[in-house]
Amino acid sequence: MNDLSALPRDFTWGVATAAYQIEGAVAEDGRAPSIWDTFSHTPGAVDNGDTGDVACDHYHRVPEDIGLIKELGAGAYRFSVAWPRVVPGGDGPVNKAGLDFYDRLVDGLLEAGITPFTTLYHWDLPQALQDRGGWTVRETAEHFAAYSGVVVDRLGDRVKDWATLNEPLCSAWIGHLEGRMAPGLTDLTAAVRASFHLHLGHGLAVREIRDRCPDARVGIVNNLSPVQAASESPADLAAAVRADGHINRWWLDPIHGRGYPQDMLDLYGVELPVRAGDMETIAAPLDWLGLNYYFRQIVTADDDGPVPLARQIPVPGARHTAMDWEVHSEGLEQLLLRLTEEYGARRIHVTENGSAYRDTVGPDGSVHDPERTRYLEEHLAACARAVAGGAPLAGYFAWSLLDNFEWAYGYDKRFGLVHVDYETQRRTVKSSGRRYAELIRAVSGDRSRAAD
Ligand code: FCB
Repeated sequence: MNDLSALPRDFTWGVATAAYQIEGAVAEDGRAPSIWDTFSHTPGAVDNGDTGDVACDHYHRVPEDIGLIKELGAGAYRFSVAWPRVVPGGDGPVNKAGLDFYDRLVDGLLEAGITPFTTLYHWDLPQALQDRGGWTVRETAEHFAAYSGVVVDRLGDRVKDWATLNEPLCSAWIGHLEGRMAPGLTDLTAAVRASFHLHLGHGLAVREIRDRCPDARVGIVNNLSPVQAASESPADLAAAVRADGHINRWWLDPIHGRGYPQDMLDLYGVELPVRAGDMETIAAPLDWLGLNYYFRQIVTADDDGPVPLARQIPVPGARHTAMDWEVHSEGLEQLLLRLTEEYGARRIHVTENGSAYRDTVGPDGSVHDPERTRYLEEHLAACARAVAGGAPLAGYFAWSLLDNFEWAYGYDKRFGLVHVDYETQRRTVKSSGRRYAELIRAVSGDRSRAAD
């Protein structure tokens, strides 16, 4: 039973996207290449050789896409600003045309009664900065803060909800250690240094945002996974502690003023280039925490594998999405409660949650996606249970508004509540999208319809 009655009436109902995944127009109006342009054009890096060159052509379809957000009944839209549109060289001259685009987007959203939630970095580092060391060098953190200031100067009179980074874990671990995302490195030292400079960039950006927009509500978006040991053996239990450190604690402890976890520093054995005052900068107080939740991890010891010497094992009999990710909505409830109890969170947004399935377009043009609908309902119910259990959850953003460029998986993996035909760019609201609209109406209006 998916009881949503614990969700507050003023809950923020949103949908989310990211610049490189939807905008296209990669060479227009002064945008310069990002590391994702480079990576996606590297043979073999992305399934089917897909790139974000055109994506959902959102750059040219803003009014239509705002109309879709409205149709879904969402009151908030989480989007990211492409750094290489605004400061194409990474530092230096500002590209006015790039800022104009986001200015129009924000105005359009506000006119439609939709609250903008703006993410400053969703992985599209200007390639020019990568050429100078990217996140492995301190200057990138400083340039990120300066770029953030430029964006806030332009939009801060209208945008109040700001996220600095999206999923720094992916930038550092997947981009620099596993090599499955841009910039495609497999180097532990680079990865650990990148993680530190991402955190530093976050902290420096928080300061820039607050200086320019005193009434801003500032947060950071982390993707977390509950971790369980595959067995009660001491080796597996220790592996679970390491995996939890790698996936969760490394990303939460420093921003909460607890420093980096000592067990992980020992495991990585990489010295962090910390200077006096950096850890205080990284721990700048935040107004909210963003949680992206997709799956839990059950792990077994893997002493010969890469850090954290723990390997995720499949769960027999479990339901999986097209990403092969286990569907486990209880994990969302657990993480929300953990952020509350262990980290003292005072305000949380689920900034992403969603599922990819192999959608088909019916003969009448409709897209019927019952699995995604079920996924959505179950995860919203997990949110409601967490609220009932005391989590200060203020909002939920479905990933994603549109089918889009799913990074190294290309266009095959469809997460949208709205289907996109990439040949024609025709958008079709899926049945999950219609269900989302219904649930939003039920919870924010007529309470009697909130439970099914
Ligand atoms: C998250 C990303 C987002 C999207 C989803 C499926 O890790 O933040 O851009 O790709 O996964």
